[in-house]
Amino acid sequence: MAQLEISSIDKFYGATQALFDVSLTVRKGEFVTLLGPSGSGKTTLLKILAGFESVSAGRITLNGRDVTALAPERRNFGLVFQGYALFPHMTVFDNVAYPLRVRRIPRDEIAQRVAEMLDLVQLSRFAQRKPAALSGGQQQRVALARALVFRPDLLLLDEPMSALDKKLRGDLQEQLRDIHRSLGTTFINVTHDQEEAMHMSDTIAIMNHGRIEQAGSAFALYRHPGSRFVAEFVGKSNFLGGRADHSGNQPVFVTGSARIPLAGPGLPPDGTILMIRPEDVVLNPPDAQTNLVRLPAKVLSSTYSGDRALYTLAAEGLPPLLAYGHAREGLHDNGGAVTVGLSGDGAVLLSEGV
Ligand SMILES: Nc1ncnc2c1ncn2[C@@H]1O[C@H](COP(=O)(O)OP(=O)(O)OP(=O)(O)O)[C@@H](O)[C@H]1O
Ligand SMILES: [Mg+2]
Repeated sequence: MAQLEISSIDKFYGATQALFDVSLTVRKGEFVTLLGPSGSGKTTLLKILAGFESVSAGRITLNGRDVTALAPERRNFGLVFQGYALFPHMTVFDNVAYPLRVRRIPRDEIAQRVAEMLDLVQLSRFAQRKPAALSGGQQQRVALARALVFRPDLLLLDEPMSALDKKLRGDLQEQLRDIHRSLGTTFINVTHDQEEAMHMSDTIAIMNHGRIEQAGSAFALYRHPGSRFVAEFVGKSNFLGGRADHSGNQPVFVTGSARIPLAGPGLPPDGTILMIRPEDVVLNPPDAQTNLVRLPAKVLSSTYSGDRALYTLAAEGLPPLLAYGHAREGLHDNGGAVTVGLSGDGAVLLSEGV
């Protein structure tokens, strides 16, 4: 059953509309990420869920109960917001204990629950320190402990890791995922880091100009994007403009002078953009491989990352193509000649303007 049901929310700030008809269903224990560019409405939606902003239209239910107008402190949600700082004059222990003291939990139980929580975020050693004597990542973990210690129904996180360096962010992402697994609390996380979203989430909701453009698993969004915006936001892609031609035995997509066979089942019959992921572009396809069109191409550049190389290729009449290649036997040189194989296998037909 749905734990949280967000139904048709509109939000106006004065004359500016920040959210348009936003709906999303969240299961208990789900890890949901709101992913989108700056200004797309992520924080606005999170603030509405927290109760800090009212809605202009629509409703929110929690376990079937309407909470749209409920005061923030009565929602029992944990919050890790930017600028929602730790209390600087309190120790780590007292910061984490605070929500329990507010709830008048007995002293012994507070001691026990704070200890458990500090253990979970691996900060037991720092219980008696003040926040100023901690690193940024450690402070974020205190904030996380404080947000989780009262066992909230839902944890709302607004870019909790944006201020951290890449390595720390990776570590904290892993910890967050472990904590999510061990507690089974529902997490709603905001980020504009697509890798973070893909690594952590059960469901990603892609936001664009105040709308949820598509929501689904990382796999569903990557393999079956419904729009160019979603395809571009989740991973790398090639977009070839042209048209589908169904007149022959084999449907093809005509782009430049190339006719790409569209073998994949479930491809929509029409569309003016063929989206092909770099790993579906075949470099130097073996002779035996059929059902693809072979085009001569030249290597423009390559980026080597150990396990593989990402090439940018020039093929006549097409935009520069991204293609992954194995790099076990060395790299193709810039300017070198290769053959690219293009097919509808794994490709997605999109329409302009969606
Ligand atoms: N208090 C406010 N008054 C007026 N407009 C606002 C207010 N808060 C946000 N907006 C506008 O609403 C839109 C969505 O803002 P929001 O903060 O939700 O974006 P965001 O997706 O969180 O962006 P970012 O990634 O930069 O944090 C923006 O156009 C913003 O300017
Ligand atoms: Mg924001």
